[in-house]
Amino acid sequence: MNKLISYLFVGILFISCSAKDDYPGVEYAPNMYHSVPYEPLSQVKDEEIGSWLDSNPEDGHGEFYNSNPYNPYGMTMLEPVPNTVKRGGYLPYRIHKDSFEIAALVKSPIEDGDEVLKEAKILYDRFCVHCHGEKGMGDGSVGVVYKGVTAYNSRAVKDKSEGHIFHVITHGKGRMWGHGSQISIEDRWKIVKYVQTLQKQ
Ligand code: HEC
Repeated sequence: MNKLISYLFVGILFISCSAKDDYPGVEYAPNMYHSVPYEPLSQVKDEEIGSWLDSNPEDGHGEFYNSNPYNPYGMTMLEPVPNTVKRGGYLPYRIHKDSFEIAALVKSPIEDGDEVLKEAKILYDRFCVHCHGEKGMGDGSVGVVYKGVTAYNSRAVKDKSEGHIFHVITHGKGRMWGHGSQISIEDRWKIVKYVQTLQKQ
């Protein structure tokens, strides 16, 4: 009889610990794996967990999942303010599309280098070559049909500054459409480096 009772006891012990759905099950020493300070990224609401775990749900603080009661979604880390520029990123380019004179004075933030030119060539081949052609003569397969694609080494373009080229890529000019929405600022500056090599031929 004693044996049976002890088997039953052990059996119940196993069953009673099982987790189910959202219920985490009985947690041994929960302070060791749930942090005491607010969880920076957690969006778990204490009220949801609270019905099982929180000894005092009224105050909005969970005992184990410490979501921040003062911020939206219980987050501690807030989302950045709109238009925030990430560190190490580029400021948004805000020169008006008609302001070519101002744009021409802007200096490239990118250093020269073989690595940059290699990446720039890949980008040029992806976005420009079909109109402007391998050597920038305006003889790409689309360019010959589209017509009016200026050669980079023509008198009109060969002395244009890096800022001007960046502006043209961003907003377009005349019959060329802007690429600002498709190519990141950094990649546009890289392409400028490559176009400059074609201007000098
Ligand atoms: C759909 C074809 C097309 C594509 C794609 C294209 N361009 Fe152009 N591009 C043109 C045409 C057409 C002109 C001539 C614009 C004008 O003056 O009317 C031009 C002109 C230019 C000029 C000379 C601007 C000036 O001051 O006269 C530069 C520089 C230039 N493009 C760079 C690029 C770069 C870099 C890319 C790739 C990111 C690119 N283009 C993609 C068609 C294209």
